[in-house]
Amino acid sequence: MNILGIETTCDETGAALVKDGRQILSNIVASSVNLHKKYGGVVPEVAAREQVRVIVPVLKEALAKVNLSATQIDAIACAYGPGLIGSLLIGVETAKTLALVWNKPLIPVNHLIGHVYANWLEGTTDYRLQTTAVDSRQSTVDFPAVALIVSGGHTDLILMKNHGKFQFLGGTRDDAAGEAFDKVARILGLPYPGGPEIEKLARNYNFKQNKFNLPLPMAWGDNFDFSFSGIKTAVFNLSKKFSLANEDKAEIAYKFQDAVCRVLVKKTQKAASKYKVLSIIVGGGVAANSELRRRMSNFRKNGELNVFFPEKELSIDNGVMIATCAYYLPKKVPPFFLKADPSLHF
Ligand code: KG4
Ligand code: ZN
Repeated sequence: MNILGIETTCDETGAALVKDGRQILSNIVASSVNLHKKYGGVVPEVAAREQVRVIVPVLKEALAKVNLSATQIDAIACAYGPGLIGSLLIGVETAKTLALVWNKPLIPVNHLIGHVYANWLEGTTDYRLQTTAVDSRQSTVDFPAVALIVSGGHTDLILMKNHGKFQFLGGTRDDAAGEAFDKVARILGLPYPGGPEIEKLARNYNFKQNKFNLPLPMAWGDNFDFSFSGIKTAVFNLSKKFSLANEDKAEIAYKFQDAVCRVLVKKTQKAASKYKVLSIIVGGGVAANSELRRRMSNFRKNGELNVFFPEKELSIDNGVMIATCAYYLPKKVPPFFLKADPSLHF
């Protein structure tokens, strides 16, 4: 079954063809990130205009890469929320149009659940198997699973009992993890998006100086919630109090990343233990962070617990995860009934 996945929730325009939910036939992503750099974050109107400009070329390229005609595409899937309304509308209306013109089923996908399903693709890294050099492409997620979604707009912990059976356990009470990376990067004078920049700068920390302390936000307590605005403010206050040299910024980047990873890993592990799950799944842009990958993968219960991350490039927004999610959750809607929903939850 070949599904065309369309993803336009924010500043990426993604179109991909995926076979049987796991095999990537084509994957094209155009990003307007460079246009937003000078503003230090995504400007919704600019992102929406770029979506209009590139959606057709991106779709054409995704289709041209595979030798498939429209008759060989079985369904059209699109992310219909959450996201920026201007951006979402472009993907949703394009998907509706294609579904009508080609007479194909239309499958709407929750963008956040799409991030989770990036772990069902071929090439997904299973850290249990990685050490034994077994081809990770053979492995699949076992249920029940705990899914940690860490993106620019969301930080959520979900219990997943089976395909489509989600129970929300907790989420951020203020800033999302990716948002905190972006804002702290901005305070330190680094470009947008901040996550990869903080990761790079943190590698320069020499561990010799130990000038700054940052709080460990909401690490304890009987809940699965997160809060990242306090640590962001702590970095802001340091930047106002001291004139930060490069070594200082590296120390702060390291300690910020360390604190965020610790809390994410701790709460995910707590949920994994409480619900006796067989797999931990991580998705969303922050899942590209190497330190988070390393630390999360260190947690295995007698080797019985698998920890999954998507390939790094599939952690960031893309059409592949939308097509994969649609394969496993094929809930069709008549095209005229589908509406973009910027604040869609689970
Ligand atoms: O999922 P995504 O592509 O878009 C949203 O749905 O929001 O996530 C983007 C977020 C940004 O906040 C970006 O800074 C963060 O993912 N990110 C990272 C890394 N790569 C991207 N955060 C930490 N470390 C990274 N390597
Ligand atoms: Zn995303």
